[in-house]
Amino acid sequence: MKALRFYVRFLPSFTAIGYVARGLPLRAFGADFTGQTWLVTGATGGIGRAVAMEAADAGANVIAVGRRSDPLEELATASGGRIAAVQADLSSIEANQNLARRYPDVNVLINNVGILEATHALTTEGFGRMYATNLLGHYALTSGLLRHGVLADGLIVNITSGGAYNAMLNLAGLDAPPESFNGFTAYASQKRAQIALADHWNHEFPRLQAYAMHPGWVRTEGVRGSLAWMDRRIGTILRTPHQGADTIMWLAAARPTPVLDAIWFDRAPRTAHAYRSTRRPLATTGGLVARLEQDLARTGAS
Ligand SMILES: NC(=O)c1ccc[n+]([C@@H]2O[C@H](COP(=O)([O-])OP(=O)(O)OC[C@H]3O[C@@H](n4cnc5c(N)ncnc54)[C@H](OP(=O)(O)O)[C@@H]3O)[C@@H](O)[C@H]2O)c1
Repeated sequence: MKALRFYVRFLPSFTAIGYVARGLPLRAFGADFTGQTWLVTGATGGIGRAVAMEAADAGANVIAVGRRSDPLEELATASGGRIAAVQADLSSIEANQNLARRYPDVNVLINNVGILEATHALTTEGFGRMYATNLLGHYALTSGLLRHGVLADGLIVNITSGGAYNAMLNLAGLDAPPESFNGFTAYASQKRAQIALADHWNHEFPRLQAYAMHPGWVRTEGVRGSLAWMDRRIGTILRTPHQGADTIMWLAAARPTPVLDAIWFDRAPRTAHAYRSTRRPLATTGGLVARLEQDLARTGAS
C-alpha cells in the first residue's frame, strides 16, 4: 500500500509529464565541455549511455565504463571514436580502485551505475552486490580519484533516486544480510546515502561541486528488468534516457552552488525529504563515511 501511494503521488512529476509540464524541452542550454575528462559509470545502457554520448558531443573526453564488451564496442563506434570504452565490473571494489589509479586526470565523475535486485547476492569480496555496486564502489572510485587526481577541483554527480524518499540515512539497511534483505529497502538506503556523500565531498573539498540528482522515471533496461510492471503499465509516459540525463548535463554546464541535503531534479534543488520520518536520521554523515572506510579497509583497498 505504501509503495502504491508512493508511485501514485510521484507519477505526474517523475514521468515525462513532469518534464514537459516544467517546460524543459523548450529551455535549451549551451554546453561546451571541451578540455574536460569525464568518467561515466554504467555507461553501456540507459541514462549512463545518454550522458556519455551527450558529453562527447559537447567536446568532452569521455571514459565510459561498463562490464560487457559488445555494448562497449558499440558505444565507442557510435561515438565515432570520441569515447574510450573501458571494461570493468563495478561491483568489484578492487576494480573501482584500479580505475581511480588508471585515470587520475578525471575532472567530471558521473556516479551512475545502480541496480535494484529482488534477491540477495554476494560479491567475491564479500559484500552484497547492490551495496557494492550502488554505494561502496562509488565511494571507492570517488575517494580514490579525490586523493590522487584533479577531481578535487571538478564535478561529481551522484545519480540517486526518488526512491531515497523511502529511507532515512541509516547504516543497518545499506548491506543487510540475506535473511533480512529487501531490495527496495536496500535501494532506498543506498540512494539516501548517495545524497549524504555529495554533502560530505562538498564539505571536504571546497573547490569541488558535488550534487545528488534524480533522473525521473526513465524507460531503460534497468527498469524493464527490475520494475517490469512500470514498463508494462506506464512505459509510454516514462522519460527517455535523454530526458533522464537532462539535469546531469545541465548541472555540468551551469554548475549551480551546491545545496545541502537536496536532490537536484529537473534543473532545480528539491527537498530530500518527501516524508517527515526521514528527517530524523539514524546515522550521521560522519558515521556513514566511517562505515564505508571500514569496509574499504576490509578489502585492503582503502
Ligand atoms: N531508470 C529510472 O527510472 C531511474 C530512476 C531513478 C534512478 N535511477 C538511477 O539511474 C542510474 C541508471 O539507471 P538506468 O535505469 O539507466 O540503469 P540501466 O538501464 O540498468 O543501465 C545501467 C548500466 O549499468 C551497467 N551495469 C550494471 N551493473 C554493472 C556492473 N557491475 N559493472 C559495470 N556496469 C554495470 C549496465 O550494464 P549491463 O547491461 O551489463 O547490466 C547498464 O549499462 C542508476 O543508478 C539508477 O538507480 C534510474
